[in-house]
This record gives sequence, C-alpha cells and structure tokens, in this order.
Amino acid sequence: MNIDELCQTARAMVQKGKGILAADESTGTIAKRFDSIGVASTADSRRDWREMLFRTEPAMSEYISGVILYDETLRQSTADGTPLVEIIRRAGAIPGIKVDTGAQDMAGFAGEKITAGLDGLRARMKEYHDLGARFAKWRAVITIGDGRPTETCIRSNCHALARYAAICQEASIVPIVEPEVLMDGAHTMERCYAVTEHTLKHLYMELFCHRVVLEGTVLKPNMVLPGKDSHQKASVEEVASATVKCLKATVPVAVPGIAFLSGGQSDVEATAHLNAMNANHDTPWNLTYSYGRALQAAPLKAWAGKAENYDAAQAAFNHRARMNSLATFGKWDKSMEG
Ligand code: 13P
Repeated sequence: MNIDELCQTARAMVQKGKGILAADESTGTIAKRFDSIGVASTADSRRDWREMLFRTEPAMSEYISGVILYDETLRQSTADGTPLVEIIRRAGAIPGIKVDTGAQDMAGFAGEKITAGLDGLRARMKEYHDLGARFAKWRAVITIGDGRPTETCIRSNCHALARYAAICQEASIVPIVEPEVLMDGAHTMERCYAVTEHTLKHLYMELFCHRVVLEGTVLKPNMVLPGKDSHQKASVEEVASATVKCLKATVPVAVPGIAFLSGGQSDVEATAHLNAMNANHDTPWNLTYSYGRALQAAPLKAWAGKAENYDAAQAAFNHRARMNSLATFGKWDKSMEG
C-alpha cells in the first residue's frame, strides 16, 4: 500500500471545481437508460456513448476529476484502438472502477438488500490497478419502509463496505464508500436524516475497525431529502442545511472530500442542492458531485443514439458539468440554466 499516493489521489478526486462522472451503469442498468431513448444496448453502442462523453471538452479537463467505469468499459477501446482509459487520462481525469457485483435480496430480511462482490475481490483489484484504475466504488443500498432499515441490514452493509475499502487500499486504490439511503418511499425528511445519520455512524466505526486510512477515502452519500412519494416539500436550503448538519455529526474531518450521488433527483435539483451547501455553509471537507443520472440525462436525450447529434450531446454534457462545477464554489444560479 502506498499511503501518500492514496491520499494524493483522494484529494485530486475532490478538488475544488471538479467532480466525478459516474458512468459505471451495469449492462442491465444502461439497457434501461438506452430503452428510454429507443437505442439497443450493445457493446458498440455502449462504447460509442461513453467515448462521446469522455471526449467532451472542456468538460473532461476542467470539470471532471475522475470517471467511474464498469468492468466492460475499462477493457474497451475506441474504433481506432485507443483504450477508453487512455482518453480519460489524456483529459487529466482519473479512471475508476465499480467493483461491487450488485445489491442482492438479503436472506431473512424481506425488502432489504446486501451488496455482493467480496469473493475474489483482492485478485480483481490487482488486475484493475494494472488496467489503470486508481479508485473504486462500492454501493450499499439502505431502504426506508415499514420496519426498515433493520440494524442487521445497516451493520452488514457497513461491514462489507469496510472490508472492500481495506482491500482497495491494500492495492493502492482509493475506495469510494457509498452507503445510499434510497429516496424511494413516502418517508419524511426527518426519517431520512435519522437513517442517514445512523448508517454513517456505523460506517465510520466499521472503517476504523478495519484499519482503513480515512485520508485515502472518498465518501459518496445521499443528500437528506423527503421520500419520492412523500407530500412533504423541502426547500433547497432546507435540504442543504439538513444534509450538512447530518454529515457534520457523523463524518470525520480526516476524510478529504464528499462527492454526492444524485439518486433520482432531477439534474437541476442536484445542482441547486450542492450549490446551496457550498454557498451557505462552511464545511471541513470539499463537497462535490459524483453524479450518474444528473450528469448524463441531458446529453443522453440530446444524443438519442444518432451520430449526427454528437455535438448537441457534448454541448449538453459541457453545460451540466459546468453548472455542477460552479455549484462546488457556491456560484451557480438558476438563471444560468437558460
Ligand atoms: P446517480 O447519481 O444516478 O444516483 O448515480 C450515482 C451512482 O454512482 C450510484 O451508485
């Protein structure tokens, strides 16, 4: 393990003005995204879509610090034979890799999930490092509902996250630890706060128990929001202040940065919330984005699978990336959305 290199990579991932592009949709998830624009998901169409994103300038050199890839993409090359990893590196961004193998139904705990992928992870991690990945991602899913989440679900998922993080660091790969409390459901924002706080407390206890070096990690949390089916309305500032309060109560200052997931918020909402946190609150960590849908929804719609829409799709990606970059400084404004 090279601790200096780990810490340097982690800091670069969350540097001011930049954030992470989550382009690590599994084959099943990307097929759903492509379905929405009527495009068949094949190895070539997935490559074309992602190559277009990774070649977008100035987004990639100015606003994206790292890209989370799926196993297939880490091994793919462009039509002219250049590895996609190389395109990312040339833009000055860091290639990363999703290493969990998905959230599975948890035996004995109806409606709850446990993330799989620890078996064989140490060997895979070595290969991923050889292929150019310098950080990794593991997503745990916590569901809010009647009697959920259970203590067992929270503990098991945090334990797995900590075991994953330790294996990453052993291979000189920065772990993004992502405990996602889902927006699905009719719960209140107060309930989301309580569950997120509980989960993060456990997470940092497990990371400590597994001797994970916090300075060489990045946290990828949800924001504190009312459930998608809740009638509660929360203002942008209410979300920002609840989220910052929850993180301050749980996340050690040794963590260099926090990169939020968008989790089903609209792209402009995700930007507005990040902006309000940075504009109105002082925090000991850099707060940035690690968005999937909130960065890709607009370019995906503009692209629609057609080569002639390449420029329009890149323009849409440039715009979203720039808006989020401004939000890391608290300098975004709704009027910039045109
Ligand atoms: P969303 O921003 O679309 O939630 O995706 C981020 C991610 O990487 C989820 O694991």
